[in-house]
Amino acid sequence: MTYNLSRLIDLPKILDDRGNLSFIEELRHIPFKIERSYWIYDVPGGEKRGGHAYKENQEFIVALSGSFDVIIDDGKNRNVFSLNRSYYGLYVPKGVWRQMENFSTNSLALVLASTKYDAADYIFDYDEFKRMIL
Ligand code: TYD
Repeated sequence: MTYNLSRLIDLPKILDDRGNLSFIEELRHIPFKIERSYWIYDVPGGEKRGGHAYKENQEFIVALSGSFDVIIDDGKNRNVFSLNRSYYGLYVPKGVWRQMENFSTNSLALVLASTKYDAADYIFDYDEFKRMIL
């Protein structure tokens, strides 16, 4: 399994008449240990989030509710991943440009991260990002 590529990962789905259940175990369903979880919600229509890269942090993003798009740019290719189910998510390796947009009303994005929050890990300048990946 290649770990350094952005990709959708299917999660376990336990179907039940009482309602469905999915789960994530670190290093089993996602290729990193979880140091932090955060979630994005109440996003006003038309807003974009992200728009940066991380030097070290890896993430796994799940649409727990509603839908949104994650745009991944590795400096060569740009891919749009539409997340709209809670039984799969997007693995985002370090060193890619990522942006989130097209949030539906009441969407809820869960983000699992491999590092604690560190402002110094962010690259906000696209030209700097391009230079970094050369
Ligand atoms: P940021 O990561 O820039 O949000 P987005 O990429 O969605 O635009 O974070 C927004 C603010 O929240 C910023 O001031 C940093 C703060 N923040 C934390 O304090 N801890 C965290 O784990 C995260 C993700 C953000």
